[in-house]
Amino acid sequence: MSDDGPEDDAATTIAKAAKRLPIDHTDDTAVRVEVAGVGRGRAVMFAFRRDGAPLGGMVVVDGDGALHVYVNRCPHVPYSLDLGDGNVLDHDGLTVVCANHGARFEPGSGRCVWGPARGGALEQLPFRRDGTAIVVTITPEPDDWRHIPDTED
Ligand code: FES
Repeated sequence: MSDDGPEDDAATTIAKAAKRLPIDHTDDTAVRVEVAGVGRGRAVMFAFRRDGAPLGGMVVVDGDGALHVYVNRCPHVPYSLDLGDGNVLDHDGLTVVCANHGARFEPGSGRCVWGPARGGALEQLPFRRDGTAIVVTITPEPDDWRHIPDTED
C-alpha cells in the first residue's frame, strides 16, 4: 500500500510533463533554450533538472515584449500549468493561465491575479541572452516558493 499524497501525485505529473521535452544542457545549473519563436500567444516550454528531478519551465513575453522565465509549476497545487500540451496562455495571448483550476498570472511578474493561487506567484528563473537562445540559470528551489504574501494588492 502506498502513502503517496497529493504532493507525490503533483511531482509525478510534473515529471511526466517534463519528460516529453528535450533537455539541452550538460549539468543541473543551466539550460539553453531557443526562443526565436516566443511571442504574444506563444510560450516556449523546456525541461530541466533540479537536484536530479525533472521539471518543466516556460518562457513567456509580457505586453512590452520582454521575456520572462518561470518554473512550470502552479503555486496552488504544484502541478504543471498545462496539461502536457504546452498551452499556458489565455485567449489574449499574454496572460499565463493554469489549466487545472484556472488561476491567471501576470506574465511580467508571475503574480497570480485571479483564481485559487491569488496572492502567490510563479517561481521566476534568471537568464541571459545568447543569440537566438537564452541560457537559464537553474537556481536552488526557494523554501517559500509557494508562499502567498500577506499583501492587500
Ligand atoms: S493547480 Fe493551478 S489553479 Fe489549482
